[in-house]
Amino acid sequence: MEFSAVTVALLAICLSCLLLFRKGKGQGTGGRLPPGPRPLPIVGNLFQLDPKNMVKSLLALRERYGSVYTVYLGSQPFVVLCGYQAVKEALVDRGEDFGGRGDFPALFRFTQGDGIVFANGEKWKVLRRFALQTLRHLGMGRRSLEERIQAEAQCVVEELAKTKVEPIDATSLISRAVSNTICSIIFGDRFDYEDQKFLALVGLMIDNFHLLSSCWGQMYNVFPRFMSYLPAPQKRYFKNLEKLRLFILDMVKVHQETLDPSFPRDFMDCFLLEMQQEKEDPLTYFHVNSLVMTTHNLFFAGTETTSTALRYGILILLKYPEMQAKVYKEILRVVGPHRSPSLEDRVHLPYTDAVIHEILRFADVVPMGLPHAVTRDAHFHGYVIPKGTNILPLLYSVHKDIAQFQNPETFDPSNFLDEDGVFRRHDAFAPFSAGKRACLGQALARMEMFLFLTTLVQRFALQPVVPPEEIDLSPLTSNVGNIPRPYEFRAVPR
Ligand code: HEM
Repeated sequence: MEFSAVTVALLAICLSCLLLFRKGKGQGTGGRLPPGPRPLPIVGNLFQLDPKNMVKSLLALRERYGSVYTVYLGSQPFVVLCGYQAVKEALVDRGEDFGGRGDFPALFRFTQGDGIVFANGEKWKVLRRFALQTLRHLGMGRRSLEERIQAEAQCVVEELAKTKVEPIDATSLISRAVSNTICSIIFGDRFDYEDQKFLALVGLMIDNFHLLSSCWGQMYNVFPRFMSYLPAPQKRYFKNLEKLRLFILDMVKVHQETLDPSFPRDFMDCFLLEMQQEKEDPLTYFHVNSLVMTTHNLFFAGTETTSTALRYGILILLKYPEMQAKVYKEILRVVGPHRSPSLEDRVHLPYTDAVIHEILRFADVVPMGLPHAVTRDAHFHGYVIPKGTNILPLLYSVHKDIAQFQNPETFDPSNFLDEDGVFRRHDAFAPFSAGKRACLGQALARMEMFLFLTTLVQRFALQPVVPPEEIDLSPLTSNVGNIPRPYEFRAVPR
């Protein structure tokens, strides 16, 4: 359901009549928030923002109020951080103070603060540490998992070969491949691409990522109580979440019945063993609900972000055939035409590595990051941000910072290459955010981006069905996620 400006205005007026002014966090607690546009009661700065393109309208306010300013989403103040310097100072240099999770009602209503992404305090620390250690133990960033991703990439190759050069929209195929990687880590098994249950699950995740990134998702996060009265599309969204929850719960039951404590098979087994160890502790964070929510976090965060980045990557390679040809040439020289590309090849493929980094910078899959919150009163840039205030680190503004990138609006792999063509890291590369809350799955996401993209280019010439100059790289929606426009391509075997 799309909202026109008129609908948004009507909504806001209705809201003003329906709701009492809710006193926001950070107000009247002795803080001194950075300046920003004057908010109206209840609607806050809604009229200064475009719910269809929140990112760009937030960035526009920077021109007037500087790189640290306050905007009211509804009655809640959010301190917006723009540009590399401000985001780094807060998330990295002051990681402890800025490491809380902020308001995100569209998912908080489901998780109730359980799991990792929307947890805070000790619970977050314990569950995050456990998940990171377990994912590493299960091969994140290592050879054992690499082989599974390589095998999954071969399955994608087989599926693409079946198209016989006919145009394909690979959205669902890519999501199924990426989801299978995370399934094999969490549930110990992958699904057949035609498995109806699996297809339905992947469909739910794609649908929910679109909904979250739509105008509706944005409005729900600003006015959760009011939006709860509107039937569509929230009914579908929460039904999707419930179906995912029930699926995970079924998996928990199967794992409980077949658990062998001396041979944990996957993430779920490791979590169940931790539950057993801590069952006498009344304050434990390890229980069935936190298992379900943690699994949901990994499943959802691990599928839609990575597959959206891969889809963007393919679209970019279709738009720039000369760059695709250069990547292919490099792969052919280093890996050859038959052997599966492996992570060890990466250091010998500087151009390819630079293209993949530039895809992640340019595509900006999570352009606003996720909201943070300050864990204590924070003195920052001459202001006092009271404990609990929401913080929006605009990752998009880091990637488009002209002090960091020469032509930030242009797709340019040389952002990650030195004069000699050697790969170089960039401090302002932040698709996974930074600091204590940085993406927990980034090592896995980087493995997948590299192995899937190199395998595809090695095996197929990816060809657009329209002239490259007609390909529009601007996102379809740009809110929680930057989602590329739908497209088809031909996979021509090499
Ligand atoms: C290209 C792929 C990915 C991108 C661009 C991405 C991006 C992000 C971003 C921007 C955040 C917010 C960090 C913050 O709050 O400052 C995040 C958090 C998170 N991501 Fe990812 N992510 C990706 C893949 C993954 C994968 C594969 C997994 C799971 C295996 C994952 C799991 C998580 C989790 C659990 C969090 C919450 C961390 C916390 O609150 O402590 N992500 N991700």
